[in-house]
Amino acid sequence: MMKADIGLIGLAVMGENLVMNMESKGFTVAVYNRTTAKVKDFVEGRAKGKNIIGAYSIEELVANLKKPRRVMMMVKAGAAVDALIDTLIPHLEKGDIIIDGGNSHFPDTIRRTQYVESKGLLYIGTGVSGGEEGALKGPSMMPGGSPAAWPHVRDVFQAICAKVEDGSPCCDWVGENGAGHFVKMVHNGIEYGDMQLICEAYQFMRDALQMTPDEMHEVFKAWNESELDSYLIEITRDILAYKDEDGKPIVDKILDTAGQKGTGKWTGIAALDEGVPLTLIGEAVFARCLSAMKDERVAAAKVFPKTIPAFEGDRAAIIEDIRKALYASKIISYAQGYTLMRTAAKTYGWNLNYGGIALMWRGGCIIRSVFLGKIKEAYDKNPQLQNLLLDPYFADTIRGLVPAWRNVVATAVKSGIPMPAFSSALAYFDGYTTEKLPANLLQAQRDYFGAHTYERLDAPRGEFFHTNWTGHGGSTSASTYTA
Ligand code: 2AM
Repeated sequence: MMKADIGLIGLAVMGENLVMNMESKGFTVAVYNRTTAKVKDFVEGRAKGKNIIGAYSIEELVANLKKPRRVMMMVKAGAAVDALIDTLIPHLEKGDIIIDGGNSHFPDTIRRTQYVESKGLLYIGTGVSGGEEGALKGPSMMPGGSPAAWPHVRDVFQAICAKVEDGSPCCDWVGENGAGHFVKMVHNGIEYGDMQLICEAYQFMRDALQMTPDEMHEVFKAWNESELDSYLIEITRDILAYKDEDGKPIVDKILDTAGQKGTGKWTGIAALDEGVPLTLIGEAVFARCLSAMKDERVAAAKVFPKTIPAFEGDRAAIIEDIRKALYASKIISYAQGYTLMRTAAKTYGWNLNYGGIALMWRGGCIIRSVFLGKIKEAYDKNPQLQNLLLDPYFADTIRGLVPAWRNVVATAVKSGIPMPAFSSALAYFDGYTTEKLPANLLQAQRDYFGAHTYERLDAPRGEFFHTNWTGHGGSTSASTYTA
């Protein structure tokens, strides 16, 4: 009997679609699912007549695989992955590869890579983005794990992934152990930020310009033909035109409370751990939290009633300013996300290919956009680029966007329209480009109450001073304790 090129465990929608995708590219796939009725349904249904082999036990699955065996898990992130790894190990042999294609948290993938390698096997933790449709037609894939495993999975991954216009695959090796899942996590954080930016632009148009969804549909349609050309702008355009059964825009009927599954939160936590100002994504996560407090907001709106003043200036001009402000804020968000990846790469010893990451995100995934091509160019030109804002192309672009950006944020602030992502992006830009921040005073405060010491402008870096501010604090500094 013909053996399968790869085995896949977990026949939920993502798993099934990946199997169909692999089979369509000429691979024979063996499949298994804990609830084996799903295996039967699948092989007798969608998979009928295709090169897909149903297995009803782990033993049967493994017995059906070519060597080195490649087993991909598409199961619920968390304990299920650990349990499955332990079930698989006794059935595999040296050089076989276990792949986790779920949304695992990167510290788990770091730990699992080490564990699986200690058993003589190889491990891959890969981000897979693009939802159900992406899984079927070509997802963005971000693999990390055991470097020795990459040459053995590359053919399958680069065959099934999305491709950009010139045919380049949206999948390349990301780095050791948890690097792939880390990059996927940052992708999701950026997705939170991109969505929040679009929502703030929408709120400005809806509340200050009192535009209808049909009018906004036209705006997003035009924006999608500008530098903002992207999947999220495109779906927003379509959502705004979508009518409910009664012919009215459905978007007006949807409750304004956002859900979240936690990957934006993980990105924020990683940024706090790394000491990276990832302000825009942080605000995007908190904006979802605030939206979820609907009852409290309804009550507070009664305590502080407000009317958003109707905008009275040039409407076409302010709409163009919003577009520019969105673009500027988006550049900031990616600059922050890339800074997080650069910093984490140092912490975890990953050798990340930043241009390659932009290419992986260029197609297939939720944040896919034309703009990512520009980011790829920036990192290809200078792989050591410290901050995206310092790339000559982006620096020039931002300079041209600043007046519009300030105008939109100032107008929103005066009108009482919350734009946390736009305004935090501008605050970051202003902070990042300020030679002298007020942290001199902050250091004085820390030294005053905690003897934490400070460095001086007129002394070399690394030399620390303490002042006896009150005359009774003594001259002992706090270098030996932290308060
Ligand atoms: P199930 O159909 O038997 O529930 C998404 O939930 C996928 O993960 C499903 O295919 C599900 O299998 C699988 N899954 C969830 N927990 C699992 C576990 N502990 N072991 C194996 N598969 C699991």
